[in-house]
Amino acid sequence: MINIPKGTKDVLPTESGRWQYIESKLRRIARLYNAREIRTPVFEHTELFVRSIGDGTDVVSKEMYTFEDKGGRSVTLKPEGTAPVARSFVENSLDAMSLPLKMYYITPCFRYERPQAGRLREFHQFGLEVYGATSPYLDLDCISFAYNALVGLGMKNIMLHVNSIGCPTCRKNYTDALRSYFKPKLDEMCDTCKERFERNPLRLLDCKSPVCKSIASGAPKIADYLCDDCRAHHDKLTSLLDSCGIPYVRDDNIVRGLDYYTRTVFEFVTEELGAQGTVCGGGRYDNLVSEVGGKPTGCVGFAIGLERILMLMEKQGVDFGEERPDVFVMSQSPVFADECLKIVAGLRAAGISADTEMTGRSLKAQFKYADKIKASYGIVIGESEIASKQIKIKNLSDGTEEECAFGDIAARMKEKKNG
Ligand code: HAM
Repeated sequence: MINIPKGTKDVLPTESGRWQYIESKLRRIARLYNAREIRTPVFEHTELFVRSIGDGTDVVSKEMYTFEDKGGRSVTLKPEGTAPVARSFVENSLDAMSLPLKMYYITPCFRYERPQAGRLREFHQFGLEVYGATSPYLDLDCISFAYNALVGLGMKNIMLHVNSIGCPTCRKNYTDALRSYFKPKLDEMCDTCKERFERNPLRLLDCKSPVCKSIASGAPKIADYLCDDCRAHHDKLTSLLDSCGIPYVRDDNIVRGLDYYTRTVFEFVTEELGAQGTVCGGGRYDNLVSEVGGKPTGCVGFAIGLERILMLMEKQGVDFGEERPDVFVMSQSPVFADECLKIVAGLRAAGISADTEMTGRSLKAQFKYADKIKASYGIVIGESEIASKQIKIKNLSDGTEEECAFGDIAARMKEKKNG
């Protein structure tokens, strides 16, 4: 037997309804917020990710699925969705559209990480990217989208953590201050922190090791280093969050693991998923478009990890409103199979989901099957039904039956379906 690669998952027929439920809810919310879908390839030139995410990040330095194609080009399976959207925005001159432009995607992403619950090598993101303005109102709109999406999906106990990591100017002063603070303590810190000290000192703030965490708790705070413009942006955003009733905590330790962020960064976090509790992460990235060759463009966005929200929804017992067939049409004996097929075709044409027996099983076995597939109603076709042109529609959950003329089956089922 050949097994599935480590860190990947099949979505089985028993689970796909849940994915569809989540995806369709998210698409509906996207419609409410006037966002349109964008689809980009699964792989891109490696350079795109190196330039945008940053070669000092874990994602680029350790986690990318990079390979040479048969033409000798280095390509990478997308580890996230933001950089490809920026590439597409520039390449297709989307700035010629009316801005701000809100784009969303549902995409597989690939990161070579150590798999564990909620951390996969192939996972899926729903992302929103808003292009074309630096106003904090768009940060708010983005966060409000994510908040309403998570609440709308029925999840509880998720908290929004918000921070500003400033612009390159104020961040430079801050990273200098961080280096001065951490330098004398570096010997006590973990190997990863030692490595990050030079290339990405901000990441020293979100190390999970207890010793590093306690050292980091005394580190200088970014809030004390923000320039006036960055501070005003952050204050406006938090006042908008207050006025919109979106609960949040200010969290100096939210720094994000990707280099393109400027000013606002945020995460929605739950304590119910152990170490992989971040269900959504995002922020502003005003320099990314120019980094990949376009004009300076204010942008803000987020991505929700779909496997993580699925896990949380299952844990919290959220009702996925699972789809079930409306009717299963059974034949008293295989001779009525053709008649059953006709009825099923009429039901399907009328928009009723229907199926019928095609393997010649006994009526008892057909009832068992109807029960297993959770059909709402059952119809049995036999000699007397054909002769009288009357059938019984059986409610398979409470056993009640009602008579119906052959020609009225679809209309009657439609009435039942629409309640
Ligand atoms: P990220 O924080 O790297 O941000 O990923 C976003 C979300 O994807 C995480 O919060 C998590 O739920 C999920 N995720 C990340 N890695 C894994 C994994 N290995 N297994 C399962 N789920 C995972 C970004 O990717 C940014 N592009 C978000 C963004 C969009 N920022 C601005 N616009």
